[in-house]
Amino acid sequence: MLQRLWARLGKSSPQPAQPLSSDNVPQHVAIIMDGNGRWAKNRGLPRMAGHHSGMKAVKHITMAADRIGVKYLTLYAFSTENWKRPKAEVDFLMKLPGQFLEIELNDLIANNVQVKMMGYKSDLPDYTLDAVEEAIKRTANNTGLILNFALNYGSRKEMLEAIKDMAAEVQQGQLTCEAIDEDYMSSRLLSSGIPDPDLLIRTSGELRLSNFMLWQLAYSEMWFTDVYWPEFTEEHFYEAIREYQRRARRYGGV
Ligand code: IPE
Ligand code: IPE
Ligand code: MG
Repeated sequence: MLQRLWARLGKSSPQPAQPLSSDNVPQHVAIIMDGNGRWAKNRGLPRMAGHHSGMKAVKHITMAADRIGVKYLTLYAFSTENWKRPKAEVDFLMKLPGQFLEIELNDLIANNVQVKMMGYKSDLPDYTLDAVEEAIKRTANNTGLILNFALNYGSRKEMLEAIKDMAAEVQQGQLTCEAIDEDYMSSRLLSSGIPDPDLLIRTSGELRLSNFMLWQLAYSEMWFTDVYWPEFTEEHFYEAIREYQRRARRYGGV
């Protein structure tokens, strides 16, 4: 009788989430946060409402990554191609880092998070750059999760700039061709000092890289979901991590 009751209770209670193994947590997770505009459109809201909502997901996923022991979290926030969007949308997107950090910086500091930025600073408006640089400065000595914002980031530009700089150094006799190996190339990219992503997540159902970390993702595991970024929850994030933990990474070996 009691057993039947338990069985019934067990059936009607929500399925507990599968446990997350604490070993083999990816060291570096990179996310293409996509689908803000479509999320808003589906609700009859302006695209900006989607971008605004996406900020909450940034906070939740940052905290979740920190809790499970991810060391680096890279978030694609604005690409070098996103300047093509209408000016009003670009202006709105450029104000988001300041808004996000105004609300969240103290909490990030309290959680020992270190903020970094990966992208071209010179095209950013002062109010964007000032907010990001203040966050970088105030979290510089933190030793926890590294939250790396890819802001005005484009992988082809990143590689071209590195190649041009190296070519000039070779021409001036400061660098030899022989010294240019994979590690050296990595050290000349905007992600210098950060290991390659172990796991790439892209939301919103798009199955492409959109000029994101083309060099660094050579052997990353990829996980795609149809969920739009503003509705991407911790549980979706853990689902991606669990899937990552089931994969065998072979790097071309057997
Ligand atoms: C991602 O959402 C945010 C940025 C690219 C800045 P989108 O704005 O690309 O949303 P969709 O893809 O149009 O739905
Ligand atoms: C990639 O998303 C850039 C960011 C998430 C910041 P996009 O929405 O710009 O990519 P495409 O245009 O669909 O490839
Ligand atoms: Mg998009």
